[in-house]
Amino acid sequence: MIKKSLIFGTISILVAVFAYWGTSSGAKDCGGIPAEKVADMVHAVIQSHRTFYTVHVVERLQAKGVVVASENWRSENTLPLPAQFLKESARLPVNTSAKIGYKLVSLWPINKQNGPKTEFEQKGLLETLQHPDRPYTEVVMDGRNSYLQAMYADMAVSQACIGCHNAHPNSPKQNFRQNDVMGAMIVTVPLSQ
Ligand code: HEC
Repeated sequence: MIKKSLIFGTISILVAVFAYWGTSSGAKDCGGIPAEKVADMVHAVIQSHRTFYTVHVVERLQAKGVVVASENWRSENTLPLPAQFLKESARLPVNTSAKIGYKLVSLWPINKQNGPKTEFEQKGLLETLQHPDRPYTEVVMDGRNSYLQAMYADMAVSQACIGCHNAHPNSPKQNFRQNDVMGAMIVTVPLSQ
Protein backbone atom coordinates (compact mmCIF):
# COMPACT_ATOMS: atom_id res chain seq x y z
CA MET A 1 0.00 0.00 0.00
CA ILE A 2 2.83 2.38 0.91
CA LYS A 3 4.40 1.84 -2.50
CA LYS A 4 1.19 2.53 -4.39
CA SER A 5 0.39 5.71 -2.54
CA LEU A 6 3.97 6.93 -2.99
CA ILE A 7 3.91 6.26 -6.71
CA PHE A 8 0.51 7.82 -7.26
CA GLY A 9 1.38 10.70 -4.95
CA THR A 10 4.48 11.40 -7.04
CA ILE A 11 2.55 11.19 -10.30
CA SER A 12 -0.17 13.52 -9.04
CA ILE A 13 2.40 16.12 -7.97
CA LEU A 14 3.85 16.02 -11.49
CA VAL A 15 0.41 16.36 -13.09
CA ALA A 16 -0.49 19.24 -10.77
CA VAL A 17 2.74 21.10 -11.65
CA PHE A 18 2.17 20.68 -15.37
CA ALA A 19 -1.53 21.48 -15.16
CA TYR A 20 -0.64 24.72 -13.36
CA TRP A 21 1.75 25.71 -16.15
CA GLY A 22 -0.89 24.94 -18.71
CA THR A 23 -3.65 26.97 -17.12
CA SER A 24 -1.62 29.89 -15.79
CA SER A 25 -2.25 33.14 -17.65
CA GLY A 26 0.90 33.28 -19.79
CA ALA A 27 0.94 29.71 -21.12
CA LYS A 28 2.01 30.86 -24.61
CA ASP A 29 5.08 32.74 -23.55
CA CYS A 30 5.57 30.57 -20.49
CA GLY A 31 4.31 33.40 -18.28
CA GLY A 32 7.09 35.72 -19.41
CA ILE A 33 9.70 33.20 -18.31
CA PRO A 34 12.12 32.25 -21.11
CA ALA A 35 11.32 28.78 -22.45
CA GLU A 36 14.89 27.63 -21.65
CA LYS A 37 14.25 28.49 -18.02
CA VAL A 38 10.95 26.58 -18.04
CA ALA A 39 12.78 23.55 -19.49
CA ASP A 40 15.42 23.83 -16.73
CA MET A 41 12.71 23.92 -14.07
CA VAL A 42 10.78 20.99 -15.52
CA HIS A 43 14.02 19.01 -15.77
CA ALA A 44 14.84 19.76 -12.12
CA VAL A 45 11.38 18.61 -10.96
CA ILE A 46 11.50 15.39 -12.99
CA GLN A 47 15.02 14.58 -11.76
CA SER A 48 13.96 15.09 -8.13
CA HIS A 49 10.99 12.78 -8.56
CA ARG A 50 13.12 10.19 -10.31
CA THR A 51 15.77 10.30 -7.57
CA PHE A 52 13.15 10.10 -4.84
CA TYR A 53 11.47 7.14 -6.53
CA THR A 54 14.82 5.36 -7.07
CA VAL A 55 16.18 5.88 -3.55
CA HIS A 56 13.10 5.88 -1.31
CA VAL A 57 10.79 3.53 -3.17
CA VAL A 58 12.80 1.09 -5.31
CA GLU A 59 16.06 0.79 -3.37
CA ARG A 60 14.41 0.93 0.07
CA LEU A 61 11.75 -1.69 -0.61
CA GLN A 62 14.23 -3.87 -2.46
CA ALA A 63 16.69 -3.71 0.46
CA LYS A 64 13.93 -4.66 2.91
CA GLY A 65 12.95 -7.60 0.73
CA VAL A 66 9.40 -6.25 0.22
CA VAL A 67 9.34 -6.02 -3.56
CA VAL A 68 11.85 -5.65 -6.41
CA ALA A 69 11.76 -3.50 -9.53
CA SER A 70 11.85 -5.35 -12.84
CA GLU A 71 11.14 -4.78 -16.52
CA ASN A 72 7.93 -6.85 -16.68
CA TRP A 73 6.46 -5.05 -13.69
CA ARG A 74 2.86 -5.24 -14.88
CA SER A 75 2.71 -9.01 -15.26
CA GLU A 76 5.07 -9.81 -12.38
CA ASN A 77 3.53 -7.43 -9.81
CA THR A 78 6.87 -5.74 -9.22
CA LEU A 79 7.80 -2.06 -9.28
CA PRO A 80 8.61 -0.32 -12.59
CA LEU A 81 12.31 0.43 -13.15
CA PRO A 82 13.11 4.16 -12.73
CA ALA A 83 13.38 4.61 -16.53
CA GLN A 84 9.98 2.98 -16.99
CA PHE A 85 8.50 5.14 -14.22
CA LEU A 86 9.69 8.23 -16.11
CA LYS A 87 8.30 6.94 -19.40
CA GLU A 88 4.91 6.03 -17.94
CA SER A 89 4.51 9.31 -16.06
CA ALA A 90 5.44 11.21 -19.26
CA ARG A 91 2.28 9.88 -20.90
CA LEU A 92 0.15 12.00 -18.55
CA PRO A 93 1.16 15.67 -19.00
CA VAL A 94 1.09 15.60 -22.82
CA ASN A 95 -2.65 15.07 -22.42
CA THR A 96 -3.09 18.21 -20.33
CA SER A 97 -3.19 21.71 -21.75
CA ALA A 98 0.48 22.11 -20.76
CA LYS A 99 1.56 19.82 -23.65
CA ILE A 100 4.92 19.44 -22.01
CA GLY A 101 6.94 16.35 -22.89
CA TYR A 102 10.03 14.52 -21.62
CA LYS A 103 11.87 11.31 -22.34
CA LEU A 104 15.20 9.53 -22.02
CA VAL A 105 17.37 8.84 -25.06
CA SER A 106 20.81 7.32 -25.55
CA LEU A 107 23.41 6.42 -28.15
CA TRP A 108 23.59 3.02 -26.40
CA PRO A 109 19.95 2.24 -25.59
CA ILE A 110 18.85 -0.95 -23.85
CA ASN A 111 15.48 -0.36 -25.51
CA LYS A 112 16.04 0.42 -29.21
CA GLN A 113 13.05 2.80 -29.11
CA ASN A 114 15.20 5.11 -26.96
CA GLY A 115 17.83 5.59 -29.68
CA PRO A 116 18.11 8.96 -31.49
CA LYS A 117 15.27 9.42 -34.02
CA THR A 118 15.77 12.97 -35.27
CA GLU A 119 18.67 15.20 -36.30
CA PHE A 120 18.17 17.15 -33.07
CA GLU A 121 18.42 13.97 -30.98
CA GLN A 122 21.54 12.73 -32.78
CA LYS A 123 23.31 16.11 -32.59
CA GLY A 124 22.18 16.80 -29.02
CA LEU A 125 23.45 13.43 -27.78
CA LEU A 126 26.90 14.14 -29.22
CA GLU A 127 26.90 17.71 -27.84
CA THR A 128 25.82 16.70 -24.32
CA LEU A 129 28.38 13.89 -24.36
CA GLN A 130 31.08 16.52 -25.02
CA HIS A 131 29.60 19.15 -22.68
CA PRO A 132 27.55 17.38 -19.98
CA ASP A 133 27.53 20.54 -17.85
CA ARG A 134 25.13 22.46 -20.11
CA PRO A 135 21.90 21.66 -21.94
CA TYR A 136 21.72 21.55 -25.74
CA THR A 137 18.66 23.39 -27.04
CA GLU A 138 16.92 23.91 -30.39
CA VAL A 139 13.59 25.29 -31.54
CA VAL A 140 11.82 22.68 -33.67
CA MET A 141 8.70 22.99 -35.81
CA ASP A 142 5.93 20.44 -36.00
CA GLY A 143 3.48 21.68 -38.63
CA ARG A 144 2.57 25.20 -37.50
CA ASN A 145 3.55 24.60 -33.89
CA SER A 146 6.97 25.39 -32.52
CA TYR A 147 8.63 23.78 -29.54
CA LEU A 148 11.78 24.33 -27.56
CA GLN A 149 13.63 21.07 -27.11
CA ALA A 150 16.26 20.99 -24.37
CA MET A 151 18.57 18.03 -23.85
CA TYR A 152 20.31 17.35 -20.54
CA ALA A 153 23.10 14.81 -20.04
CA ASP A 154 21.99 11.80 -18.00
CA MET A 155 24.88 10.73 -15.80
CA ALA A 156 25.76 7.43 -14.14
CA VAL A 157 25.26 8.87 -10.67
CA SER A 158 25.31 5.57 -8.80
CA GLN A 159 26.72 2.07 -8.98
CA ALA A 160 23.16 0.82 -9.58
CA CYS A 161 23.00 2.61 -12.97
CA ILE A 162 26.15 1.03 -14.32
CA GLY A 163 25.62 -2.34 -12.65
CA CYS A 164 22.28 -2.85 -14.35
CA HIS A 165 23.13 -1.35 -17.77
CA ASN A 166 26.50 -3.13 -18.05
CA ALA A 167 24.89 -6.48 -17.19
CA HIS A 168 21.78 -6.09 -19.35
CA PRO A 169 21.79 -8.48 -22.34
CA ASN A 170 20.28 -5.81 -24.64
CA SER A 171 22.73 -3.08 -23.68
CA PRO A 172 25.05 -2.23 -26.61
CA LYS A 173 27.60 -0.75 -24.17
CA GLN A 174 28.74 -2.75 -21.16
CA ASN A 175 31.68 -0.74 -19.85
CA PHE A 176 29.96 2.29 -18.32
CA ARG A 177 31.85 3.75 -15.38
CA GLN A 178 30.57 5.94 -12.58
CA ASN A 179 29.95 9.56 -13.70
CA ASP A 180 29.92 8.61 -17.39
CA VAL A 181 27.26 10.19 -19.58
CA MET A 182 24.78 7.34 -20.23
CA GLY A 183 22.32 9.25 -22.35
CA ALA A 184 20.16 12.33 -22.01
CA MET A 185 16.77 13.62 -20.98
CA ILE A 186 14.86 15.68 -23.53
CA VAL A 187 12.33 18.22 -22.26
CA THR A 188 9.94 19.64 -24.88
CA VAL A 189 8.23 22.98 -24.14
CA PRO A 190 5.54 24.31 -26.50
CA LEU A 191 6.20 27.87 -27.72
CA SER A 192 2.92 28.32 -29.59
CA GLN A 193 -0.39 26.53 -29.09
C1 HEC B 1 17.69 -2.38 -12.60
C2 HEC B 1 18.13 -1.94 -13.89
C3 HEC B 1 18.37 -0.49 -14.19
C4 HEC B 1 18.88 0.49 -13.37
C5 HEC B 1 19.28 0.40 -11.91
C6 HEC B 1 18.97 1.69 -14.19
N1 HEC B 1 18.52 1.45 -15.45
FE1 HEC B 1 18.47 2.77 -16.96
N2 HEC B 1 17.34 1.49 -18.01
C7 HEC B 1 17.07 0.18 -17.68
C8 HEC B 1 16.19 -0.40 -18.68
C9 HEC B 1 15.66 -1.85 -18.70
C10 HEC B 1 15.94 0.61 -19.63
C11 HEC B 1 15.04 0.54 -20.85
C12 HEC B 1 13.63 0.95 -20.42
C13 HEC B 1 12.66 1.03 -21.58
O1 HEC B 1 12.11 -0.01 -21.95
O2 HEC B 1 12.47 2.15 -22.13
C14 HEC B 1 16.69 1.78 -19.19
C15 HEC B 1 16.74 2.97 -19.87
C16 HEC B 1 17.62 3.99 -19.59
C17 HEC B 1 17.90 5.11 -20.47
C18 HEC B 1 17.30 5.33 -21.86
C19 HEC B 1 18.17 4.62 -22.91
C20 HEC B 1 18.11 3.09 -22.85
O3 HEC B 1 19.11 2.51 -22.38
O4 HEC B 1 17.08 2.49 -23.26
C21 HEC B 1 18.82 5.90 -19.83
C22 HEC B 1 19.46 7.18 -20.35
C23 HEC B 1 19.09 5.29 -18.54
N3 HEC B 1 18.35 4.13 -18.43
C24 HEC B 1 19.96 5.80 -17.59
C25 HEC B 1 20.04 5.28 -16.30
C26 HEC B 1 20.68 5.97 -15.19
C27 HEC B 1 21.41 7.30 -15.28
C28 HEC B 1 20.51 5.17 -14.10
C29 HEC B 1 20.91 5.46 -12.68
C30 HEC B 1 20.44 6.68 -12.07
C31 HEC B 1 19.79 3.98 -14.53
N4 HEC B 1 19.53 4.08 -15.88
C32 HEC B 1 19.45 2.91 -13.72
C33 HEC B 1 17.56 -0.48 -16.59
C34 HEC B 1 18.13 0.14 -15.49
